Amino acid sequence: MDRCNKLVDVGRRQFLRGGAFAAAGMATAVALPAQSQAKAAPGLALVEYPSNKLANVADLKVNEPLEVNYPDENAPGVLLKLGTKVEGGAGADGDIVGFSTVCPHKGFPLNYNAEDHSFNCPGHYSRFDADAGGQQIWGQSTANLPQYALRIDAKGDIYAEGLDELLYGRLSNVL
Ligand code: FES
Repeated sequence: MDRCNKLVDVGRRQFLRGGAFAAAGMATAVALPAQSQAKAAPGLALVEYPSNKLANVADLKVNEPLEVNYPDENAPGVLLKLGTKVEGGAGADGDIVGFSTVCPHKGFPLNYNAEDHSFNCPGHYSRFDADAGGQQIWGQSTANLPQYALRIDAKGDIYAEGLDELLYGRLSNVL
């Protein structure tokens, strides 16, 4: 009987110790989200994009991409006069847009399809809608196509002054 009582006592102590760990675990669980949130808070990106003259409106033909580079020589893209006004389109007709032509998924070069105004990736077949700000419409990419922020001056010179998405292979972006 004495042995039996000792076992009961050990069992009770184990139970109490387990309860203490559980309580400590709960306290940790309560404290963790605050720590996680503090670590997850993103820092402010301090990159400034250049204002680069890319072309003149007279250089553009409707639905024919004009190859450019922005924000530097290693970042290929196009300017495009779509022929119909689109949201975010620049110029008197509101139809001039510009995009990176590097696929945001894994960096393959994109091809333009003039029939449906889409950019198409030969890598894993993502597609992006030029009429809808480069929105991804199909495929592996989880990001939209980076679009240029354009400004057109009184002489018709077209300037790119920012991007709205992260360029593939770059560490930071701001607009
Ligand atoms: Fe374009 Fe993968 S690189 S979909």
